[in-house]
Amino acid sequence: MNLCMIGTGYVGLVSGVCFSDLGNNVICVDKDLEKIKKLKKGKIPIYEPGLEELVLKNHKNKRLNFSTDLHNSIKKSDIIFICVGTPTKRGGSSADLSQIYNVAQQISKSINKYKIVVTKSTVPVTTGDAIEKILTKNNLKKKFTVVSNPEFLREGEAIRDFTYPDRIVIGSNDKKSNKILKNLYSPLISKGAQYVHTSRRAAELIKYASNAFLATKITFINEIANLCEKIGVNVEDISIGMGLDKRIGGRFLRAGPAYGGSCFPKDTKAIINTADKYKTKLTVIKSVVKSNKNRSNILLKRVYKILNNKVKNKKICFLGVTFKANTDDMRDSSSLTMIPILSKKGAKIRYYDPTGYKKEFKGLKNVFYENTVKDAIERSDLVIIHTEWNDFKSINFKNFIKGKKFIIYDMRNIYDPSKIKKQGFKYFSVGR
Ligand code: UDX
Repeated sequence: MNLCMIGTGYVGLVSGVCFSDLGNNVICVDKDLEKIKKLKKGKIPIYEPGLEELVLKNHKNKRLNFSTDLHNSIKKSDIIFICVGTPTKRGGSSADLSQIYNVAQQISKSINKYKIVVTKSTVPVTTGDAIEKILTKNNLKKKFTVVSNPEFLREGEAIRDFTYPDRIVIGSNDKKSNKILKNLYSPLISKGAQYVHTSRRAAELIKYASNAFLATKITFINEIANLCEKIGVNVEDISIGMGLDKRIGGRFLRAGPAYGGSCFPKDTKAIINTADKYKTKLTVIKSVVKSNKNRSNILLKRVYKILNNKVKNKKICFLGVTFKANTDDMRDSSSLTMIPILSKKGAKIRYYDPTGYKKEFKGLKNVFYENTVKDAIERSDLVIIHTEWNDFKSINFKNFIKGKKFIIYDMRNIYDPSKIKKQGFKYFSVGR
């Protein structure tokens, strides 16, 4: 099939590349000329394992193309995927849909034959209705269908998640588009992915409800971890014991720092905003947002306690600063809350991240990037493992002692406490 992905951000680029790998002709369009030029040369704007190889392969065999010409790309395509950003509005909590509506206006002027217009971006319920209205203005004969097809890709695992999804959700109010989309996804369905066909509004809500639920699971276990610390119980035993109940499931029950990233913080706020509009109370999700906001304070308090409330001039090392491993994404990472506060309190911070220096900490007093784990750790008073990169999973800490032994605060519970303690380190982790 001929597909057009509008927006070469995370969602558009990964989905476009994977669709081309399934044998479709895909044009990825973006208004950013520099980005398109780089993509044509095989240079990938985001860090995603395996993506570069797939771009090069499919660009070479001409199934994958990049363009800034939206009008012609739409004309050539049967299915148009809207994959532009829907960030939180500045100073508010609702999703900013200006890019979505802008793109819809442009599509409305370029429809030359029957098109399926699919929103892959995460959009609040009824956005599909609004897009349909915009398209109808210039296309009274309605040679199009607007469909919702939310993506559930995780950064760092996106290609795997696209190729082996738990489910594919298609929200459309007609049979024709459903049949075409089912056909598009048939290679994944035949490998075992569940295909769910719903109304358009339901598909839009499934995405928000899923992310809000996952955020709730994480927040739930984080709060249980707080209790475990007080009563001397290992939170991992609780996660295993709970997770084996099939109604609960073991995934997303890892206690740690506040959840972050491009989706959970934004989508939880947006679903609350939608519910407020419809005068419905989402008290559970509201508590989750509040609890997650407070999570960094709880972890910071532990840091102060570990340092006997003497933070000034303490040398603190952060291993990993991204919101999770296998991504260079800093959006809503809890390190963005913790590092500035510690810097303000006079701590001397050195950090290392496999994805390099982060401009987000530029200008902060006494916050420096180090090029290696060794440089970041050596001569520290406290080593904080903030992100669960594989690079940090088998460090021989003994090799990095210069002078006095440092304390370790493992915020991701990577290490076995008894083994580390046997080596003579003071070791703290989360909920155990
Ligand atoms: C998420 C959803 O998983 C994905 O379906 C959606 O399309 C986009 O949002 P992503 O933001 O890439 O994906 O990351 P995810 O792996 O879900 O982790 C989000 C946050 O939760 C991270 O900060 C992570 O560290 C945290 N997390 C996750 C935990 O603290 N504990 C867990 O058990 C799982």
